[in-house]
Amino acid sequence: MERPHLHIIGVLHGDITSLEDAPKNYDDSQRVGILEIFPQYQEGLDGIVPGQTIVVLFWLHQATRDILKVYPRGDRSRGLRGVFATRSPVRPNPIALSELEVRALHGNCVEVSGLDMLDGTPIIDIKKKISR
Ligand SMILES: C[S@@+](CC[C@H](N)C(=O)[O-])C[C@H]1O[C@@H](n2cnc3c(N)ncnc32)[C@H](O)[C@@H]1O
Repeated sequence: MERPHLHIIGVLHGDITSLEDAPKNYDDSQRVGILEIFPQYQEGLDGIVPGQTIVVLFWLHQATRDILKVYPRGDRSRGLRGVFATRSPVRPNPIALSELEVRALHGNCVEVSGLDMLDGTPIIDIKKKISR
């Protein structure tokens, strides 16, 4: 089978510098930061507007990748669960998905709120949120 080949499209700049300080998930967060999209991918931002919610996929570069069972949200009273039944950052491919509100756009930089990611987290994709 052909090996998947990821292109990192940008990097997050924010004020979350430790895992302890990170909100548990985006629906718990008002934290603001900048998605810096590398110039060769900037054209791909055309059509994104302030006020919109975007779906951003990150590569959790500091995550543990060799554990398949976790206590959801670190709560031992809930028992161990398979990582694929959780939103844990611990998983074989540490891909995270957050729905973020766009506050402003400046060239290749998108200001967003709702962050639950560490400063310096690589960005692997951005998608439109489906509205029902
Ligand atoms: C529970 S995950 C949820 C991620 C994403 N919103 C999702 O649902 O796929 C969020 C947690 O990942 C951890 N985290 C954030 N950035 C990380 C990084 N770059 N590497 C490893 N862990 C990270 C923090 O502990 C944060 O609270």
